[in-house]
Amino acid sequence: MRILGIESSCDETAAAVVAAPEGGRWQLLSNIVASQVAIHREWGGVVPELAARQHLRDICGVVERALDEARTTWDDVDAIAVTQGPGLVGSLLVGVSFAKAVGAARGIPVLAVHHLAGHIESLALHNGDLPYPAMVLVVSGGHTSLYHLPAPGVYRLVGRTRDDAAGEAYDKVAKLVGLGYPGGPLVDRRARIGNRQAIAFPVPRLTHDDRAKGPKTHLPEGFEEVLKRSADFSFSGLKTAVRRHVELVTGGGARPLTDTEIDDICASFQRVVIQTLLDRTFRAAEWFDARAVGIAGGVAANSGLRQEAEARGAATGLPVFVPSLALATDNAAMIAAAGLRRWAAGARGDALDFNAEPGLTL
Ligand code: KG4
Ligand code: ZN
Repeated sequence: MRILGIESSCDETAAAVVAAPEGGRWQLLSNIVASQVAIHREWGGVVPELAARQHLRDICGVVERALDEARTTWDDVDAIAVTQGPGLVGSLLVGVSFAKAVGAARGIPVLAVHHLAGHIESLALHNGDLPYPAMVLVVSGGHTSLYHLPAPGVYRLVGRTRDDAAGEAYDKVAKLVGLGYPGGPLVDRRARIGNRQAIAFPVPRLTHDDRAKGPKTHLPEGFEEVLKRSADFSFSGLKTAVRRHVELVTGGGARPLTDTEIDDICASFQRVVIQTLLDRTFRAAEWFDARAVGIAGGVAANSGLRQEAEARGAATGLPVFVPSLALATDNAAMIAAAGLRRWAAGARGDALDFNAEPGLTL
């Protein structure tokens, strides 16, 4: 079984081939990512129209390279998995239209995949299957969500951010202290040098009155209220605290921040983010009797988060799984893996009238 994955939900055009030998572990045969960072950097963030046009330019070449590197011809492709959503509609449409067109022309089944299922399955692709039940935190530029996986391929949302995603907070803090774009890796680097205790930024706490917006979480009877409060995240207050701090020390922008000040802000901000993410994740893991913790998504590339998660895992006796750096940020191998998961559960291709869904929930 060989599956071609296609991902175009945001600003990376990606294609990958993954093989699933009968009864064996998934094998990554190729993983091509054409990043648009250089194009969007000039604007300080992703410009949807530019992203869609660039996907259109890149998609054919990226897929051809993924097949070439995997020494795979179209005749060897048993299925195509493509990101259906969530994401930018113009970007998603490029991948979805491409997959449906090739699928129809060559008679290859096409499986629509949720982007976050892809991030979650990057864990199994990199580490082999997790022990279930597992508690998986997906932290990216667009999402901060906790999923309970009672069994392979079953994803139950138990917590999510009420406002900003963690990656978004990283990107905004990077902008506030004058680092470039994308901010996550830059803040990560400075945080390694800075003093984590320098500034006492507030640890986000959600109060009883916080109304849950967004997709409904699936919680066991009776746990609704307490879990809803404690397994959700919030990062906008922390971002505001960083902005106030910067305004205060620079006298409202009268002078630039020194290098040491930037290092300390990054380190102190990151300490709070990591503490918030891991407190919630490990608490939820305990509540759900999880046998493993997984952390996936772009922010899972963060060195501090990986280290601290490892340490908490050792302290609590829960094994912690993270993807490789290449599989943490957006890629198509994880989409292929999520497609394989659906295939293993019996899916043999979706009707080709499915559409890109920018607000798709999981
Ligand atoms: O998963 P991803 O590639 O795209 C989305 O699905 O959103 O995640 C991108 C996010 C960005 O916000 C980026 O700043 C953040 O992941 N990121 C990091 C690191 N590398 C990427 N955040 C913190 N530390 C990093 N090393
Ligand atoms: Zn992503």
